[in-house]
Amino acid sequence: MHKPAYKIIEHNYDVVVVGAGGAGLRAAFGMAEKGLKTACLSKVFPTRSHTVAAQGGVSAALGNMGEDDWRYHMYDTVKGSDWLGDQDAIEYMCKEAIPAIIELEGYGVPFSRTPEGKIYQRAFGGMTTHFGKGQAKRTCAAADATGHAILHTLYQQALKHQTEFFIEYIVLDLIMEQGECRGVLAWCLEDGSLHLFTAQMTVMATGGYGRGYFSCTSAHTVTGDGNAMVLRAGLPLQDMEFVQFHPTGIYGEGCLISEGVRGEGGFLTNAEGERFMARYAPSAGDLASRDVVSRAITLEINEGRGVGADKDHVFLHLEHLDRALLNERLPGITETARVFAGVDVTQEPIPVIPTVHYSMGGIPTNRFAEVVTAVEGNPDVVVPGLMAIGEAACVSVHGANRLGSNSLLDLIVFGRAAANRCAEIVVPGQKLKPLQQAACEAALARFDRIRYSKGDLLPSEIRLAMQKEMQKSAAVFRTADLLHQGVVNMEAIARSFARVRVTDASLIWNTDLVETLELDNLLAQMRVTMHAAHNRTESRGSHAREDFPERDDVNWLKHTVIWLQNETVRIGYRPVHLYTLSDDVDVIPPARRVY
Ligand code: FUM
Repeated sequence: MHKPAYKIIEHNYDVVVVGAGGAGLRAAFGMAEKGLKTACLSKVFPTRSHTVAAQGGVSAALGNMGEDDWRYHMYDTVKGSDWLGDQDAIEYMCKEAIPAIIELEGYGVPFSRTPEGKIYQRAFGGMTTHFGKGQAKRTCAAADATGHAILHTLYQQALKHQTEFFIEYIVLDLIMEQGECRGVLAWCLEDGSLHLFTAQMTVMATGGYGRGYFSCTSAHTVTGDGNAMVLRAGLPLQDMEFVQFHPTGIYGEGCLISEGVRGEGGFLTNAEGERFMARYAPSAGDLASRDVVSRAITLEINEGRGVGADKDHVFLHLEHLDRALLNERLPGITETARVFAGVDVTQEPIPVIPTVHYSMGGIPTNRFAEVVTAVEGNPDVVVPGLMAIGEAACVSVHGANRLGSNSLLDLIVFGRAAANRCAEIVVPGQKLKPLQQAACEAALARFDRIRYSKGDLLPSEIRLAMQKEMQKSAAVFRTADLLHQGVVNMEAIARSFARVRVTDASLIWNTDLVETLELDNLLAQMRVTMHAAHNRTESRGSHAREDFPERDDVNWLKHTVIWLQNETVRIGYRPVHLYTLSDDVDVIPPARRVY
């Protein structure tokens, strides 16, 4: 078939932000506000980005509903990360949380209020006071639609600051020259045109990759496109083995039922009507961290105490909660349970099951949002011209397990940090050096290869095989046998992509082609996830190995970095930052400093 040469429309910016979720928007308008010519590219309309689905809230030690301190927040986050989080970045996030949330309030986020008019804060799993002794109320909420409230406010700010949006543009690849990122190549769905965006800085805010799994709380668009572009650019991803299961996805549907429900007094029961969390986490109970609750539910089911005909889920109860509270604080959950589970939460429990929710791994960065790559002897080499923020990034503030409500915080704090860093290092209006003639060739070759593929397998067939394999082999509990077979099967599934068929080669609103490009992106990430999970022979955070049930700090207190080079997987390591930014921070009681 004749493949036409593409006419490529060129754009020059100071900064290009890819993605318009919470992180992308916070970064983009922060940069525009600081006088940088900023473009924001998004494959969906900004207010449809997946941040819109975040429910329970955003953490910050404001102390509006009881005593709190950012040092407690830092302690919880380090502990929640199962000690794999980088402590300099965690300190930065927890300290900056307070001004960042006050700033959001000023931008107009319609937070719920206490009777005195302060921002309302609820309890969330793993959030404590006095280094684990009390239960903190730290999660700032706008009822149970906090992500929706924040996303809309950030979009309004972006419009106010004249951020230039390119909406429904599919970014195909990074444009790299001599190890430096020079911009991106993108495809406009509306008219089928191709666009080259060059910039001094490119910021990946492309989200996580939950759609690699069969059951997840993620939107269909959550395919980790930026992560895959980074792999294709010859750069590593970090800690991909750590995939978080949210304990309470609706059984059979995957839709999120916020942890905020348990923060407001909801609880879990098994087939015997027992509040089983008391056995697994005597003090935190239903508000233990997510990895703990997800494992507990899985064990209840595996040991025959699940509910339902197949005894394969558990119940989440809200029937005992006051109706006024449900209306005021949990209206979205009430509606979601009715629509997706057919349940009236005032009368009956919601059937729930652990469901993939968040990727702790992603593009390695420092706390300024700059992408780093590990080279021999230097684990912190900055990749010029490239940043990553939000779920796409691995800063790493979540380590092996993220605490609920630290994700919205991560988006806001590091979106803001990226804007601040760009204000320091990007020169407004600086002329960009010209690109080499062949700069876009590799990206176009991949695009054409997929666009004109004429194999015998539908993208949907390959996608289903991938999702089922991930769900089976890299689930809540993992073993060497399962993971070994998972590696073999995932490699075969990835190879089967050579047989994919795209039935429609047109360029205008071709969703068949979009989904096939996304599938290619997911396959690369699922390969490295499976390999990294097989490689890590310990249990830590969300990575629970039945054959290695203990955390092994002697051998495994390190980040995995993983490359896909010439289609071969290569694994290396980066040290965890065990240092804090300020000398006077003694958040980790000395006894626990022994790793
Ligand atoms: O349960 C929730 O509302 C989810 C929050 C989060 O993932 O941070």
